[in-house]
Amino acid sequence: MLRSKIPLFPILVSGLTAAGILLGGCSKSEPETASGGGGEKKPKSSYMIGMSQCNLGEPWRVEMNAQIKAAADKHSNLQVIFKDAQNDTLKQRSHVEEFVSAGVDLIIISPKEAQPLTEPVAKAMGAGIPVIVLDRALMGDKFSCFIGADNKKIGHAAGEWIVKKLGGKGKLVELKGLMTSTPGQDRDNGFREALAGSGIEIVFDADMKWLEPNARQEMESALARFNKIDCVYAHNDPGAHGAYLAAKAAGREKEMVFVGIDALPQEGVAYVQQGILDATFQYPTGGAEAIDTALQILQGAAVPKQITLGSRVFDKETIAQGGQDLK
Ligand code: FRU
Repeated sequence: MLRSKIPLFPILVSGLTAAGILLGGCSKSEPETASGGGGEKKPKSSYMIGMSQCNLGEPWRVEMNAQIKAAADKHSNLQVIFKDAQNDTLKQRSHVEEFVSAGVDLIIISPKEAQPLTEPVAKAMGAGIPVIVLDRALMGDKFSCFIGADNKKIGHAAGEWIVKKLGGKGKLVELKGLMTSTPGQDRDNGFREALAGSGIEIVFDADMKWLEPNARQEMESALARFNKIDCVYAHNDPGAHGAYLAAKAAGREKEMVFVGIDALPQEGVAYVQQGILDATFQYPTGGAEAIDTALQILQGAAVPKQITLGSRVFDKETIAQGGQDLK
């Protein structure tokens, strides 16, 4: 059951105003899609949004859902149903199909992997349901709007930070995010571009699939093989933390620098404060922006095909001032 009978117009106006303010710090890439795709709809007094989360095992995704809920709670004409695919691609495909059968008004998805989730999302669009894709991208262009930070830029910035920190040379371990997901691919590409021409050698790399226990295990192998490691670059903070724990257990954590990505206040930023990580790069969840964009689409407004969120670096120099924007 939907909760509200409140007239639509004032709510949408305040939603759009809020969207204007919130999106002020982001860049929007054209072209705009007419009414967000998914077909023309008559205005309704309340809307049901289905949110498909790929997993809730990491604090970052718990935070994404919390931001979506908090933003949606401000609009009494919105109800969000959350589904957790528990890191299972097939389950996530079924969740999208279930949302279509249930006739939700809009779907938000943060997909586990690009290729397998592309088809169910395209089918939802074909059934006239607009879809907002958050954080990890899909293939092709059959979705209404993609919202996420620029992972290639973040990877590049992490690479530049490391080149500077190590004085242009050293031995590095790269612990990658799931390489069938776009952030893993982009954080690797941008990083390697920044390292090109430097004297930094990637002596060991492995796909830890975004998971701390995997990162710890891979780092144990790296430590066993190399008696000198100057830096660990992990595609997320849980990965960097797993590597730190492995190095600490081997009594070698002071030998190297640890760099991660996400910068949640209670996770990566706290690790930098505690001296566990040397730097973390913020990866905003986009939860609030997803709800603002959903409201625009549901009202029939045109939205950008892509909304790119900003990022900040937190290291010993910048942490006291709340990090520093990436250029
Ligand atoms: C959480 C997470 C984050 C990472 C993001 C990339 O599942 O691994 O740590 O930044 O997904 O999509």
